[in-house]
Amino acid sequence: MLFRGQNPTCEHCNIPAPRLPEAKCIRIRQLTIQLADITLGSPVFLAPMAGITDLPFRNLVQSFGGGLVVSEMVASQEMVQAKPGTRERAELGFGLENTAVQLAGRDALWMAKAAHMVEASGARIIDINMGCPAKKVTNGYSGSALMKDLDHALSLIEAVVAAVKIPVTLKTRLGWDDNLLNAADLARRAEEAGVQMITIHGRTRCQFYKGSADWQAIAAVKQAVSIPVIANGDIVDLASARKALRQSGADGVMVGRGIQGRPWLLAEIAAGLDGRSYDGIPAGTDLADMVARHYQAALDFYGPDLGGRVIRKHLGWYMDLVETPSALRKEILTSKSPATVLRLIPKALAEYGSVAA
Ligand SMILES: Cc1cc2nc3c(=O)[nH]c(=O)nc-3n(C[C@H](O)[C@H](O)[C@H](O)COP(=O)(O)O)c2cc1C
Repeated sequence: MLFRGQNPTCEHCNIPAPRLPEAKCIRIRQLTIQLADITLGSPVFLAPMAGITDLPFRNLVQSFGGGLVVSEMVASQEMVQAKPGTRERAELGFGLENTAVQLAGRDALWMAKAAHMVEASGARIIDINMGCPAKKVTNGYSGSALMKDLDHALSLIEAVVAAVKIPVTLKTRLGWDDNLLNAADLARRAEEAGVQMITIHGRTRCQFYKGSADWQAIAAVKQAVSIPVIANGDIVDLASARKALRQSGADGVMVGRGIQGRPWLLAEIAAGLDGRSYDGIPAGTDLADMVARHYQAALDFYGPDLGGRVIRKHLGWYMDLVETPSALRKEILTSKSPATVLRLIPKALAEYGSVAA
C-alpha cells in the first residue's frame, strides 16, 4: 500500500490510512478470477435478474466489458420438459466464456438433467440459485428455502457437480433469517462438494430487499472457504464497490439493480478498481444508438409483441437517466409501433440531460 499527503490515503484506492490495518488496497489485489481453465478478466459481475438479464441485455453489457454475466434463473424441471419460454433464458450469446447459466430447483434429478443440457448447449459455467426469496420459489423449497435444509441443498449441489465437467458456482444469501445465518456453513460444504465460486447477497431471505446489504457479514464466508467469494447487494458505483470489497474481503463484486439503464457500469467500476478513468459512457447520439440497438435486439430475440413489452422497462430506465420529458416518455412507452419507437429514441435520448456517471 502506498500512502501520500498529510492525511494519507492509499494512492491506488483512496482508502484513508487511519482505517488501517483492516483496509486493504483494492487496486493491487488480484483483479482476475480463475475458474478452472476460465479466466474472468475483471472481478465485477452482472447479477442474474429474472426479466432483466436476458440475452439482449447480457450481450449489451458484454459489449462494454464485464467479468462475468449470469443468465436469468432457469427452472430446471421446466427446462428439461421444454416449458414455453424456459430454454430461451439459458440461451448463450456473445461472450460465451464469461456467461454463467443459473439453474434453480429442488430436485437433484431435474437439476442434474438440466445441468447436463446446459453444458451440452455450450455453457462454460453453471450457477446454482440458493438465494431467490420469492414466495412462489421458496414455497416450492427452491431458491433461498434451501438454506433451511443444508443436507438437501448439498444433495442438489453434488448432483449438479457430478453431472457436468464445467465449473459450478453458487449464489446465496447470508441465511434464511437473523436466527439462521448459515451462509458460511453452506459455503464450506459447497466447496467440499466441488463448487468453485460463491456469491453472497448480504441480506437474509426474510429481509427480501429491505434494509441495506451487510457487506461485513460476508467476511465470515470469505474466511470459511478458499474459493473466490463475490459480494453482492447495493453495489451501485465505484465507491460502493470499493467499500463492499473492503468490508467483506471478497474477491469481486456482483451488481444487480444498479446497472439498470447503465449497461457500461461493470466496465466503469472495473476500470476504477484498476486505477483507470473510464471514458466509455455513451452520450448524445451514441447513447441513442446504443438504446436503439438494445431495442432492436429485444424485438429480434422475442418477436415484436413480447419484445416490445420486455424492453419497455429498459427504455424507462434509459429515459430516467437523461430525464426525458414526460410527454415524450409516455409516447415511447405506450407506442406499439417499432417504427415510431425507433424514430423517437434519438429525440428522447440524445437531446435531453446528460448521463450522470
Ligand atoms: C427483478 C429482479 C430479479 C432477480 N432475479 C434473480 C434471479 O433470477 N436469480 C438470482 O439468483 N437472483 C435474482 N435476483 C437477485 C439479484 O441477483 C441480486 O442478488 C439482488 O438484486 C441484490 O443485488 P443488487 O442490490 O445489486 O440489486 C433478482 C433481483 C431482482 C431485483
